[in-house]
Amino acid sequence: MHLPQPDLEWRDDKIPVSLQFDDPYFSLDNGLHETRHVFLAGNGLPDRFSDGFHIAELGFGTGLNLLTTLLEWRRTKQNGTLRFTSFEAYPMSPADMVLAQSAFPEITAIAAEFAPLWPELWQTGRLETPELFLSVVVGDARQTLPNSDLEADCWFLDGFSPAKNPELWDADLMQAVADHTNPLGTFATYTAAGFVRRNLEAAGFSVERSAGYGRKRHMTIGTKKDA
Ligand SMILES: C[S@@+](CC[C@H](N)C(=O)[O-])C[C@H]1O[C@@H](n2cnc3c(N)ncnc32)[C@H](O)[C@@H]1O
Repeated sequence: MHLPQPDLEWRDDKIPVSLQFDDPYFSLDNGLHETRHVFLAGNGLPDRFSDGFHIAELGFGTGLNLLTTLLEWRRTKQNGTLRFTSFEAYPMSPADMVLAQSAFPEITAIAAEFAPLWPELWQTGRLETPELFLSVVVGDARQTLPNSDLEADCWFLDGFSPAKNPELWDADLMQAVADHTNPLGTFATYTAAGFVRRNLEAAGFSVERSAGYGRKRHMTIGTKKDA
């Protein structure tokens, strides 16, 4: 499969920065702690984990959110399978994913375990292990999400910053996010940008601002309203 590659530079040899979007892939403070604070705690995880729990994500990037989540799934000794579906327009090469993940000593072991599997992910769009069903849908999420049959329990909304990647936060896409969320499903995102909050509210979520990670004062979380 021919995949469009991201155009990258590396800050301090370890943090990938998109030249196309002029934005880093994760917090310059600590990407892994950001994932835990924003996406896990922001969605009430690990408390909501259960067999078959389905996480969806806009922006697979380096795979850091996936590996951090799976580590938490293991740490809390969950039974069954975690489902994780991510949408990505510019898949990163396995070598770049491994390099980006190497900045985080806490995921060294799980990153080494998954390193040989990334080529298969980009060949087939899927990885299946006894504990994980991973699917990464390659393409522009504005086209791929509305056509998917996904029903997510929670969302990691992790596009580049809304100022630089506005298409990943627009009203139609936030509506598609809500349409593909189970009743009382949730989302979390690191941004508190006003137009993102308004788009999510209009799409059918009740939206709250909460304490952000690192140098960000606020982030946004929400729950899908009862129909
Ligand atoms: C902040 S990074 C995601 C970081 C990632 N969650 C991780 O754990 O490393 C944003 C991602 O959104 C992707 N992206 C940007 N615009 C997109 C679009 N229209 N459709 C799908 N993915 C897009 C970028 O290629 C990038 O991988």
